[in-house]
Amino acid sequence: MNAASAPVLTIDGPSGSGKGTISRLVAGRLGWHYLDSGALYRAVAVAAGWAVLDLSDHAALVRCTQATEVAFRDTPGGEPRVLVNGVDATDELRTETAGAAASAIAAIPEVRAALTARQRAFSRPPGLVADGRDMGTVIFPEATFKVFLTASAEERAHRRYKQLKDKGVSVTIDGLLQEIVARDARDANRAVAPLRPAPDAVLIDTTGLAVEAVVARVLELMPASRP
Ligand code: DC
Repeated sequence: MNAASAPVLTIDGPSGSGKGTISRLVAGRLGWHYLDSGALYRAVAVAAGWAVLDLSDHAALVRCTQATEVAFRDTPGGEPRVLVNGVDATDELRTETAGAAASAIAAIPEVRAALTARQRAFSRPPGLVADGRDMGTVIFPEATFKVFLTASAEERAHRRYKQLKDKGVSVTIDGLLQEIVARDARDANRAVAPLRPAPDAVLIDTTGLAVEAVVARVLELMPASRP
């Protein structure tokens, strides 16, 4: 099987919809590769130095995008580590600040274009689970299976709050809710590759659903691919 014919499952949705957790678990069950496309945008934002980010200098951001090496290292039973230019930046990438900076640079068409081929190169046998905002609409429009996960903004804020609290980070639910609503608006309203379901995507509302139930629902969509 060549890369072009390897099956792809795209899982898109807003931040906090559970995409990352669900995609990783589904990829593990299927024995497929996994692409966390958000990590690429976060890596570029961090490499560009989000604190001094000049969003108007598109040429410099494209050069930075092309020069930023991102590598994923699997860890047994845990979240993969993400190396940016050879340095483990996993914890920095997961911060709210890196997420907001990623969302800002992700609105720049030239930056998105500079990451397109890199994302498509993840498609390899036996298959790929690709998680992001535009996996089913732009990067893998021919994907075999497409899912769009949603959840209420309140539930997503609560999930994020719990995750951060478990890590010892001090935040408020109200603050997180405001950030989530602002990020949704920016991701959904940008001119290029806005966050929206592909016409052929299956919508799953994960509000009130346990992780295992969502994983089961996704796997049900793809009986022929079950190992
Ligand atoms: O999935 P995430 O929270 O790690 O993504 C961070 C930001 O990157 C998100 O707010 C928008 C952007 N992004 C994107 O525009 N397209 C993708 N395929 C993935 C992420």
